[in-house]
Amino acid sequence: MADLFDRACRSIPGGVSSPVRAFGSVGGTPVFIDHASGPLLYDTEGREYVDAVGSWGPALLGHAHPEVVAAVQQAAAKGLSFGAPTLGEVELAEMIRERVPVADKVRFVSTGTEATMTALRLARGATGRSLIVKFAGCYHGHSDGLLSQAGSGVATAGLPGSAGVTPETAAQTIVIPFNDVAALEATFRRFPDQIAALITEPAPANMGVVPPLPGFNRTLRELTAQYGALLIFDEVLTGFRVHRAGWWGLEQSGAEPTMAAPDLFTFGKVVGGGMPLAAIAGKAAVMDLLAPLGPVYQAGTLSGNPLATAAGRATLRLADTEVYRHVDEVSATIQTGITDALSHAGVPHRVQPAGSLFTVFFGEAAAAAPFQNYAQAQQLDARSYAAFFHAMLAAGVALPPSGYEAWFFSAAHDDAAVSRVLAALPGAAESVAAVTR
Ligand SMILES: Cc1ncc(COP(=O)(O)O)c(C=O)c1O
Repeated sequence: MADLFDRACRSIPGGVSSPVRAFGSVGGTPVFIDHASGPLLYDTEGREYVDAVGSWGPALLGHAHPEVVAAVQQAAAKGLSFGAPTLGEVELAEMIRERVPVADKVRFVSTGTEATMTALRLARGATGRSLIVKFAGCYHGHSDGLLSQAGSGVATAGLPGSAGVTPETAAQTIVIPFNDVAALEATFRRFPDQIAALITEPAPANMGVVPPLPGFNRTLRELTAQYGALLIFDEVLTGFRVHRAGWWGLEQSGAEPTMAAPDLFTFGKVVGGGMPLAAIAGKAAVMDLLAPLGPVYQAGTLSGNPLATAAGRATLRLADTEVYRHVDEVSATIQTGITDALSHAGVPHRVQPAGSLFTVFFGEAAAAAPFQNYAQAQQLDARSYAAFFHAMLAAGVALPPSGYEAWFFSAAHDDAAVSRVLAALPGAAESVAAVTR
């Protein structure tokens, strides 16, 4: 594997196509994957791993689900890309609207980054305002205006932002702490008629999983409406994963529905079933500002690609109530196993969930109280996570190679896969205890 990584580094910066894959924060050499099936990954040397990354979210049904693969094969046989409207994209848009009825219209793009970038442009076009508010630790892709204090790979690398973003662009984004209503109120009071939009992960999972406090999302809706700013729910990660209608749907399905609709959603990952597909969706009054109807320009040669929409349709068709129930159950079983193993080994930690997503935060600070924002999450003990990660990997379980990421399970994680994860936990817990003693 080291040879292959050296070879990759000669042709690809850092040897990877996306930074977190490089194992920078856990150390060691990344595992190169040859193929995957159901809950399992196989590396180029033939080793098998139970996967807890799920391609960072898309693999809700497990890898290479036969019906999804067949749908893509059938679409491929009809042509790879037409640059023209297709029935398939109309059907996928209808499926999204059926699940998230507060989204009137849907525009397809190829990545989550494009979706959030377009959502900001739409918000600025709709309001004629310039400023964007985001929360520290939320990750909304890698467009210039959204990299300030971003989570995910930016957090993993310990960066405040990115070189190459001009000060003028950075100054258009106001960053405030998550779960902090007072900070948001103060921001709106300071710039009452300059904020185009507030963008949030309604349940952040890129600073580790940090759920919203009860009523927080409702307050976001009320304050944005009061000040005439748009509310954007970036559900690229949570959409169609934590519930059939994403985090918005999960909150709505609770005993006390807490959340009115945001103006715009962004979706990605599960909606493309593992193919490059993402979407902006929302109220018709805003979405119809997009070209060709309106003055906000957005376009893409491969947008709504027929293979990607085929994978998305097959995935959403198969992602029924039982799939979500199963993923919830697997997640709960593994969370219990983690807590038991780490507690038994005397390792301070906290398993912090939001829906079926969770992060294991290590360290005394995590054990003392839940992390509610990025500043708190940055107290995670990265050394313990690295020890845990490598012990699990050696035992045949592939975890996210960063303590700031969520664990993802799938409908294909059967009893055998879950048992293998549970069996690996006590040894991994002892490995962490050994490095912290
Ligand atoms: C919440 C959120 N928004 C946006 C993105 C960016 O999506 P992509 O990596 O497809 O550009 C991600 C990716 O992890 C994400 O988690």
